[in-house]
Amino acid sequence: MKVLLRNPDRTEDVAGPARVGDVLDRLAVNPETVLVIYGGTLITKDVVVPDDGEIEVRPVISGGAGPASCHACGATAVMEVKRHHAAYCADHFVDHVRSQVREAIDRHGMISYHDRILVAVSGGKDSLALWDVLLDMGYRADGLYLGLGIGSYSDRSGQVVAGFAAARGVTLRTVDLVDEYGYDIPAVTGLRNRSSCGVCGLSKRYVFNRVAKEHGYDVMATGHNLDDEAAQLLGNVLRWQTPFMARQSPVLPATEAPGEGDSGPRGAGIEGIGMARKVKPLYRLGEREMAAYCVIKGLDYIVEECPMVGGNTVLRYKDALNELERHSPGTKAQFLFGFLDRVQSAHFASADPAGETLVACSGCGLPTTRPRRAGVDPVCAFCRTRERVVQSVARRTSAVAGRT
Ligand code: AMP
Ligand code: FES
Ligand code: ZN
Ligand code: ZN
Repeated sequence: MKVLLRNPDRTEDVAGPARVGDVLDRLAVNPETVLVIYGGTLITKDVVVPDDGEIEVRPVISGGAGPASCHACGATAVMEVKRHHAAYCADHFVDHVRSQVREAIDRHGMISYHDRILVAVSGGKDSLALWDVLLDMGYRADGLYLGLGIGSYSDRSGQVVAGFAAARGVTLRTVDLVDEYGYDIPAVTGLRNRSSCGVCGLSKRYVFNRVAKEHGYDVMATGHNLDDEAAQLLGNVLRWQTPFMARQSPVLPATEAPGEGDSGPRGAGIEGIGMARKVKPLYRLGEREMAAYCVIKGLDYIVEECPMVGGNTVLRYKDALNELERHSPGTKAQFLFGFLDRVQSAHFASADPAGETLVACSGCGLPTTRPRRAGVDPVCAFCRTRERVVQSVARRTSAVAGRT
């Protein structure tokens, strides 16, 4: 028999006579999503069609079979966003991304058109897309790239970011960990009680804040997306890390410079600086959407992941959430947004460590929490860690020199 499948149209030959249900089965068509028409009338799945018969299988679920059409203009869609029950053509997908960024900015008062914004750009899809969106929306956004010294991965990332900045004619600031601070991330391997990813995260937070404050930026923006934030929240909930939950917000306000009477900055040549405001304008958009945005806008980004992330627990949380999302689109967003809207501010304000008194680090002058014991010089986590890494590099270098 002939089976005409619609939208897109194609014809299949199937041996008859056969039950309609079996024919659909053979063609892997879900009977709940189609109508079957034979000789101008509808037939059900138990009807037997003769070998010389011809049936039409017509899809009935919009967007559920064949190419979906754009939610806004009806053109063929290039991207579906299941949690919004929507599909978009290229132009309307870009509008969708901008409108989610707009919503994030407005809902949390993240940035204004007067602000000077420093976007931390890694060369990955999220932060490059963020910089691109903010520029297209007319914000005053410069980029900051931190060279982590992770072999060819870092070399490629730096080139991609520099390429974007040159193509757009915008300002990029670059800091290299080895040049500025005397160590790179691979040097952390083998340090007791410290993972490379942990030190990498600490170094990024420190350098982002420092550069933002040194150069007078009003706000620091990162490319953390919905998947990053939902995975972070899942990790925090599983271990009931309430102080982290208190600070898990798409916007963290600036904190004041350490007050007068503190030891004040020494060694770093910067006057009493506090913490810059930090914002995550992509927290309403998933990784898949950010990758699609880059492809649609022709943005070159580094697809490979950092070679040091193996065993990273955040990746396991992302996998778990993606599995839930596959069966119930929208789960990730409900989890994160529900927390932010209903729980975060109401329940965790008292667990926020930002309430602790900050004093100036005696090494670099940036804020740190007051030491528990009186008479002890305050030293921030970054300065302590850096000291350990630099010492371990020096020990290894002299051991190698001793052997040769
Ligand atoms: P990650 O910590 O790798 O998940 O990255 C989170 C965000 O931090 C990215 O979206 C960027 O905004 C920023 N970021 C990560 N790595 C770098 C880097 N090497 N230089 C500048 N920004 C970075
Ligand atoms: Fe930090 Fe990989 S980017 S360890
Ligand atoms: Zn469209
Ligand atoms: Zn310090």
